Amino acid sequence: MTPTFSAATYIARRNTLIERVPEGLILILGNEDSPMNYTDNTYPFRQDSSFLYYCGIDRQNLVLALDADSSEVTLFGNDFTIDDIVWMGQQPQIADQAASVGIHKTGSLSDLQSLIQQAVSQHRIVHYLPPYRQLNTLKLAQWLGRTPAEITAHPSRKLIETVISQRAIKSEEELEEITVAVNLTRDMHIKMMEMAQPGVHEQAINAAVTAIALAAGSMPAYPNIISIHGETLHNHAHGNVLKAGQFLVGDFGAESPMHYAGDITRTCPVGGAMNDIQHAIYNLVLKAEMDSIDQVAPGVPYRDIHLNAAKIIASGLKDLGLMKGDVDEAVAAGAHALFFPHGLGHMLGLDVHDMEDLDENLVGYLPGMDRSKQFGLKSLRLARPLLPGFVFTVEPGIYFIPTLIDLWKAENKFAQFLNYAEIEKLKDFGGIRIEDNVVVTDTGVNILGHPIPKSADAVCEIIRNG
Ligand code: GLY
Ligand code: MN
Repeated sequence: MTPTFSAATYIARRNTLIERVPEGLILILGNEDSPMNYTDNTYPFRQDSSFLYYCGIDRQNLVLALDADSSEVTLFGNDFTIDDIVWMGQQPQIADQAASVGIHKTGSLSDLQSLIQQAVSQHRIVHYLPPYRQLNTLKLAQWLGRTPAEITAHPSRKLIETVISQRAIKSEEELEEITVAVNLTRDMHIKMMEMAQPGVHEQAINAAVTAIALAAGSMPAYPNIISIHGETLHNHAHGNVLKAGQFLVGDFGAESPMHYAGDITRTCPVGGAMNDIQHAIYNLVLKAEMDSIDQVAPGVPYRDIHLNAAKIIASGLKDLGLMKGDVDEAVAAGAHALFFPHGLGHMLGLDVHDMEDLDENLVGYLPGMDRSKQFGLKSLRLARPLLPGFVFTVEPGIYFIPTLIDLWKAENKFAQFLNYAEIEKLKDFGGIRIEDNVVVTDTGVNILGHPIPKSADAVCEIIRNG
């Protein structure tokens, strides 16, 4: 069974939630199994992260109800029938699981329906988070007597903001869990480096790194990115055979036993050697990553660190003859986004993009902070000033995306900043991304987990000894 924190942890989290939401009935829905191709043939079960945060129970088809007026907390779900037990085995009684995390009142799902109907008839506020699974949208629609569109349009802003305020600050025991995830992820990345040899199939590396997570009783925190076409940012295809001279981008991470995520990227020169331009661009990405980590401290807006990384990249690319003109002006205009079209990082926790289901802007931006619409900067998920306890990724990259280069060149876009004649020569370069997971401390920053090799020499040595 999935381990949990102590009951005291969940009781404290639920008490805070009830204190911060002034009135109404709060519903935190767990997930159900999702069918792949027919009802009983399901995807691996993944519990909802907010449900895990408030009660830790990793089991299908439960709902946590918290009454903000009476402070009563109830876990709703149906115990297994004898038919369920015959096919899926004995499960603990829901009342026993609830008690283990400090909840002493349980009810069936039909009891839940009655409770909600009573709340609706009394015109009480019923708070729920934005459902990202259609089944939960349909359940809420049925329970609340609304259409699915109405359910989607009206999640509780107060509940969303409260959950974000709690989940954004990681406790010591959460940091330990994330560290477990990162250390397991480290083993997976070293395996990738050892296998980054000419003639090896991407899918063999995918299998080998996934096996490390599975053998530890874990699962990948998101679909593995393992590709010699790392210029496609989220490339989930694994159909290529590695050739010497290519870059292999590996962006993957394991979950900890309690489902906290690791999210690490390393880039391997296949065969363990780089030519001069590859080496220069690798070191430029590494410098952007390490300088960005050095700047992390309480109160610093992550958007400033992102923009500084963009300037490091633009300045280095100018030195290499790929960009030109004034670096500050180039970054302000967004010209660097030809090479660095994504954000520097995102919150990390129970989700790999932590709380992205709740509202990306409420997680990463403060009220009054405008999210840019500029290509590149618009993809920055975390921009707000940092607080101690924030855990997030630092993941700059440089990519040569042939279709984007062709498009911008045809438009002569940012011609004052981009040296298209030189860029053309590197259209088959691929991409490089380097990513670590960090926590803001009271005075600065810690990188989570044991160090994962990232200097060009260290990575090449592992590959050559592979
Ligand atoms: N690990 C994939 C991403 O951060 O988008
Ligand atoms: Mn990431």
